[in-house]
Amino acid sequence: CTFGQKSALAGKAGAVAAVIYNNGQGSLSGTLGEPSPDHVATFGLSREDSEPYIEELRAGKTVAAKAYIDSIVENIKTVNIVAQTNGGDAENCVMLGAHSDSVAEGPGINDDGSGSLTLLEVATQLTKYSVNNCVRFGWWAGEEEGLLGSDYYVAMLSTEENGKIRLFMDYDMLASPNYANQVYDATNEANPTGSQELRDLYIDFYQSNDQNYTLIPFDGRSDYDAFIKHGIPGGGIAAGAEGVKTKEEAEMFGGKAGEWFDPCYHQLCDTVDNLNLAAWELNSKLVAHSVATFARSFDGFPE
Ligand code: PHE
Ligand code: ZN
Ligand code: ZN
Ligand code: ZN
Repeated sequence: CTFGQKSALAGKAGAVAAVIYNNGQGSLSGTLGEPSPDHVATFGLSREDSEPYIEELRAGKTVAAKAYIDSIVENIKTVNIVAQTNGGDAENCVMLGAHSDSVAEGPGINDDGSGSLTLLEVATQLTKYSVNNCVRFGWWAGEEEGLLGSDYYVAMLSTEENGKIRLFMDYDMLASPNYANQVYDATNEANPTGSQELRDLYIDFYQSNDQNYTLIPFDGRSDYDAFIKHGIPGGGIAAGAEGVKTKEEAEMFGGKAGEWFDPCYHQLCDTVDNLNLAAWELNSKLVAHSVATFARSFDGFPE
């Protein structure tokens, strides 16, 4: 998601009466009855300037301000899809997730069709093996509207169910055309123990495949956010979003310095042509490796 934070309104059950898309620059969330002035301000529209649009929203009209607002969608209901192995210790699960939604502005094939398909493939391949620990897959809804699906899922877990998820691994954007091997830097003291172990597994994987990696902020911009906030260790990797590749990173990974890792991030051109297949393949192997490791054992992993 673009801002990694849920608007105060979007999180309330049934409160998302209107979702207002800002023209290509991100998304706003508000309700018909209660538009959010904070979010309007975020996009450079003053409260005063936005007042006419808000009035139209209140009147139930489609807002005409095309330059600022693309569309209005009302009363959306979405679903998470969660699947778990029949086998394995059901008290000790490794969970992994990708988001199945895209932004309204584009088809979202890299973001996050790439992660969603990788999870499907790993789930399919996993049927050939037996597992010691249970493996749980999540395809999240509403990530782009403020991590809504994953947030809801974690919030509704009882303490007992929360305790069964030993680890959450986030796989969002695995095939960025101008990719970097980005590992979430889960060193922050505030993160639950276990996140560091996961981070080190990713680093080991890239190194043993003769690949470079960079650490990126673990700042809540994807679905791991709710997990770590509820005491479940988390981490993940990504191939890069709207960040600009540096000269050093171009030396490490190839590709073009000065351009976004994904030049089609949150745009109409995020199609099947927008994928780096080599990066996707390697990252899919990493996903499989992470599942295999923790499906086999949590030995040496903090309680
Ligand atoms: N989660 C962001 C999105 O779906 C993309 C992102 C991935 C941002 C990784 C930072 C790091 O839009
Ligand atoms: Zn987003
Ligand atoms: Zn996105
Ligand atoms: Zn995403």
